[in-house]
This record gives sequence, structure tokens and C-alpha cells, in this order.
Amino acid sequence: MSSILVLGCMWGDEAKAKIVDYLGGDADYVVRFQGGNNAGHTIVTGGKKYVFHSIPSGILYPNTKCLIGSGVVIDPIAFIEEVNSLEAGGLKLAGRIMIDKRTGLVLPLHKVLDEQSETRLAGSKIGTTKRGIGPAYSDISARVGLKIMDLAYPAYLKQRIEELYAYHNLTISAAELNQQLLELEKAWAVLASYVTDVETLLNLNKNKDLSILFEGAQGALLDLNYGSYPYVTSSRVMTDAVGTGTGYSARKIDKIIGVYKAYCTRVGEGPFPTELHDEIGQRIRTTGNEFGSTTGRPRRIGWFDAVAASYSARINDIDSIALTCLDVFSGIEELKICTDYEVNGERSKLFLSHPLELEQVKPVYQIFEGWDKDISGCLSFNKLPRAAQVYLDAIAELVKVPVQIISIGKDRSQTFTHEVGGE
Ligand code: IMP
Repeated sequence: MSSILVLGCMWGDEAKAKIVDYLGGDADYVVRFQGGNNAGHTIVTGGKKYVFHSIPSGILYPNTKCLIGSGVVIDPIAFIEEVNSLEAGGLKLAGRIMIDKRTGLVLPLHKVLDEQSETRLAGSKIGTTKRGIGPAYSDISARVGLKIMDLAYPAYLKQRIEELYAYHNLTISAAELNQQLLELEKAWAVLASYVTDVETLLNLNKNKDLSILFEGAQGALLDLNYGSYPYVTSSRVMTDAVGTGTGYSARKIDKIIGVYKAYCTRVGEGPFPTELHDEIGQRIRTTGNEFGSTTGRPRRIGWFDAVAASYSARINDIDSIALTCLDVFSGIEELKICTDYEVNGERSKLFLSHPLELEQVKPVYQIFEGWDKDISGCLSFNKLPRAAQVYLDAIAELVKVPVQIISIGKDRSQTFTHEVGGE
């Protein structure tokens, strides 16, 4: 068994799905291991756009099986809607989706709690996707959450939902409870055939000639522990999360690809040292269509932050970089990369994760020449303008990891392999 992990290494939305899709043609399994339908993974192929929220991006390849590990949380009703809409679009999903029997559930209550928590936090709200992800994970940690197999046992399911409301000091009317149970029963009628044991499927086949692609959601700077807490998501978004989220030890992963954009983006709240509030930021947002695929929110834009990038490369032990959206820079005269953080007059290359410290940071920039030419047709390194080659070199050098995959457009055909930097 050979395995590759494709991991978002900034604040999410690094265009990971495009890289999973680029590599996914050869994969037997594409596996999600954390997050839920807060993710929005976009793939454009042959002029058609697909957006996946819970279903792994490998579903576009007819021979690839898509696995969902126990580290993921599933909203059963939204999941069925996603399945139905993909099937209506012509994709055949039967027999190709497998969900681990330990996977946690997002219930209607979690979405209500997410909404309420954001309203109560007001000025210090997180800016969540309001998909109920945080409350679902909190309930699992508190051992009152529900698991997908609970759907198989109606009386137990009813009791667990009642207990969940009681745990939150809430009551649920008999009518509402019946309505929820009915919807969950309908969802289970479809989901039951997808539920399996992903851990044994992966580990007991480890000696077979199969290839696995682990697909990260969100990005390492949104990791619950190592991200810019509290402005993070509620799952673990790191290399090690593959083990806890699938049962397949991260020690066995053969290659870890960290995905970065040529610039930075962030949705939701929280300090963002290189954020651009000027017309260049606006231009990048428009050209790069930087609007959330799940919520439609405009993404915040900033220059590439090599301090944050090196930190996430280090904590995830990445082997190579996939750099996306390089084409978005075409026509911008001057580009910047943040090489150091300056705090109280002192320079450092260490990332600061505490919000009060991160918001004090003055980024120190290295300036690069931009390029005029539209590079979306440059399908090899040699065809790129010299300035774009220099920019790629600088990223490899500053992050101290070679760039191996470069993407210069939205379509599947606009990604290519070339090694920049490294030994
Ligand atoms: P939650 O995951 O919905 O609880 O949101 C917590 C934080 O993570 C917010 O800042 C969200 O905008 C961010 N977030 C969650 N999922 C994604 C994603 O797929 N891409 C980018 N940001 C995300």
C-alpha cells in the first residue's frame, strides 16, 4: 500500500481539492479524516464545476473509492442532499462511499448551538461556517455526542437525543423529536449501506498493491491545538490527525504534500499579519474568485507569510509543497513575501499563535518583481516568466521545502509537476 497525504497548510481554502484531483486518478482510496461539511472542495474539469462538502474529492474518478474516517463529523441530512445532488449531476456513487462506523454526527441542535454561540460571542465571535461543527465535536469530547451507528438503533437513538437536549439544559417537544427521528430514519435508509469499518479496510489491506490519498480539510493554522486559537476549527488538522481520524497510523504515510496558495487567504475572524486592505487585496479577491465555497463569504487576502508557512511545514513534517493560484498574480507589478515577524522592534522567524501576540506582529517583507503576462497557459516551469520562477524559488527557500506541484488555473489541466528548490 502506498499513501500520500494532501494537507492544507495555511488557514484553509488552499485549493487542496485541485491537488487531490490531480493525483487522484491513480488512487484506490481517497480518504477524509477530519472536519465535516464546513469544508467546500471545488474541482473544475472540462468546464464543469463540482463542490464537495463531506464527500471526498476522489469521487470524480469512477474506480476510486471514497472513505470517511472516524475523525470526520457527518450531518446525515446534509450528506444525503449532497449525495442526491451529485447523483442528479450524473455521478455514480453506489458502492463507492464508505463511512467508518465510529463517525460522529452533526444534529440539528448543533447548528442551533453554533448560531447561538456566535451571537453570544458578538465582538469576539469566531466567524464559523455555522454548520454545527464546533458543538458536534464538543459533544463528542463530552461523551454526549452521537455516532453514526446510533442511527441503526431507533430506541437508543431517541434516548440519546433526549439526553443530549437534557445535557444542554434544553427540552425538545415530542413533535419536533418525532420529526427529527423521521428524517434520521430516512437518512439511515441510504447511509446504512455506506457504513463500514474504515480502520480494518485500510490496515488489513496494507500489504496489497493499493494506493491511498488522504485528503485534509481546512488548514493547519485552523488546527484546534496548533492553529491560531481560539480562531480555529474544532478538529485536528495535522498530519497526525490521519491516525486518530482513520486508525491508519500517520507513521505509515509515504509522502506528505503541503498545499499553499501563492498568497494567503482567511475566512472568519482572527489576526492575519499580512492582510491587505488595499486595492491589490481587492484585485486578488476578484481575480482569484476568493469567496467561500461553503458560505459565499468574501475571503480576507494577504501576502504569502513564510513565517506561518514554515511553522506549518515543520509541525506537519511535509515533504513537498504544492503551490496553487500563481496565475492570480499576473499583472501585479510588485509582490511581497513576509520573511520575518517584528514584535517590539525585534525580528523573529517564529510563528506566534496567541491572538494578542499575533495581532502585534509587523510583517517584514521581501519585495519581488511581478509579471504582466497571463500565465494560465504556461503548462511547464520553463514557460513561466522569469519573475514567477524567482518567486517560486523564494518560497521553496524560505519554507525550506521543495515546491513540486504548481497550479496556474482552475482547470484540472492547469496543474503540473516540477521540482523547485530542495537538494
Ligand atoms: P467552523 O469549522 O465552522 O467551526 O469554523 C471555525 C473557523 O474555521 C472559521 O474561521 C471558519 O471560517 C474556518 N473554516 C472552517 N472550515 C473552513 C474551510 O473549509 N476553509 C476555510 N476556513 C474554514
